[in-house]
Amino acid sequence: MAQCTAIIDIGSNSMRMAVVQKTSRFAFHIIHEVKSSVRLSEAAYTNSGHLQKSAMDRTASALGEFLLIARSFKARKILCVATSALRDAPNAHEFIARIRQEHALSIKVIDGVREAYLGGMACANLLPVMDAISVDVGGGSSEFAQMNNGKVEKMFSLNIGTVRLKELFIDHGDMEGAVRYIDDALNTLPFESTQTLIGVGGTFRALTHSLMKKEDYPLKKLHGYSTTKEAFETFTNAIMEASPKKLKSLNIKPDRFDTIKPGTLILQRIANHLNVQKLICSGVGVREGVYLSDLLRNAKDQFPQNYNPSLRYLLDSYATFSNHSIECSALAKRLFTLMHTHLDLPQSYRTELVMAAKLLPIGLGVRYYAYQKHSHYLALNALDYGLTHSQIALVSHLLLFKKGNTSSDLIPKNSYGSLLPADKVLNALYTILWLSHILLAQRSSAQSLTLSFCDGQLTVSGKDLYLAREQLKNLPLLPQLSIELRD
Ligand code: LMR
Ligand code: MG
Repeated sequence: MAQCTAIIDIGSNSMRMAVVQKTSRFAFHIIHEVKSSVRLSEAAYTNSGHLQKSAMDRTASALGEFLLIARSFKARKILCVATSALRDAPNAHEFIARIRQEHALSIKVIDGVREAYLGGMACANLLPVMDAISVDVGGGSSEFAQMNNGKVEKMFSLNIGTVRLKELFIDHGDMEGAVRYIDDALNTLPFESTQTLIGVGGTFRALTHSLMKKEDYPLKKLHGYSTTKEAFETFTNAIMEASPKKLKSLNIKPDRFDTIKPGTLILQRIANHLNVQKLICSGVGVREGVYLSDLLRNAKDQFPQNYNPSLRYLLDSYATFSNHSIECSALAKRLFTLMHTHLDLPQSYRTELVMAAKLLPIGLGVRYYAYQKHSHYLALNALDYGLTHSQIALVSHLLLFKKGNTSSDLIPKNSYGSLLPADKVLNALYTILWLSHILLAQRSSAQSLTLSFCDGQLTVSGKDLYLAREQLKNLPLLPQLSIELRD
């Protein structure tokens, strides 16, 4: 069995563990997640940061069970970090020693700058964003990381957090005090403004989940969901005014009822302060950062260029005979280069086309019959990292094939259609993808085919094109394209 790593993040509000399975050098996927709303920092802020006994007891119990879970996966490594609550607590050593003694686990308390770096580095590697500021709003503090050209360059940490604000101000009905406290802290930020803000952490995920439900968003993915400043403002104003009953109907979970408003307020003030235009939700954060800084320790904390860990994970896990799809992607690239101008296809779509070609056979890992449907389902659900939702929808939609249909015929109703490009683009990419597959029906190499293209006429020469000629009848031709096969 491939090796597993467990990563535990002891936050001030919740404690979380992810168990990650590595499938090849840099590819991985999450096989388990667990969260407990232990609220380690409860009542600490009014006691000069001292952790309280009941909070430590809860956290120790939950942590013990997290370790049982990690062991059930035979995790080879357990990486455990703690943030604001333990950072601030004069009695932190008591808790750390207790956990070491009871569970033989060493907790690494990280400082705010490291915490900001880990969250930002996870975003830089796993979101399709090059320039942005990530902000992780936690229970005790908020961490900022600025990325330029895909690299985290500047980090900052502020002691503004949901539980801290709740206990110091909101519980006493002092909303104005809370706003002043946040704004005073934000005035010390070394960042002026950012077009794009990446939201990391429990509060932002809870808000995104709620907003997506409200909009009836077609993909079940928080990671990479993007929204405008205006939509964010309208929605968060509604959250700030909502009664507990209303929060419930907005799909906020009961364990967040008392921190969602302070968290929302912090995010609103940050978005305002940084003059943000666009907000992107990150499903990854400190835990993924901890994992990646271990995985990529000899690679400067960055994946190799053009490497996509989700794609590689899918190929590792489902594509057993991948030589055919490698040939298909080579052929698809050549066809794209020859025809994209004639077909009016922007160059950028080559990326999605090549990804789809590589993923063609993954459905075979489920069942040969109707494998295209299985490939589609696997891609739609398991492509997560490094791609926009539009890219995920496009790559996975291209994998759906049905004799005699165009790609636009196959768009499911009430689904991700709004994320797809125009029919013309979709059908042209589908033609190139499935034409590559059909031309290689004999499963030989793409090299054995000679291609030429002139005035909308594609000529393919090679031997062993009998099956291709037969199967070509299944592919509806684009009006602006004719194909001739020559033996
Ligand atoms: C943290 O304190 O970082 C997390 O517990 C955040 C949260 O809201 O769950
Ligand atoms: Mg945190």
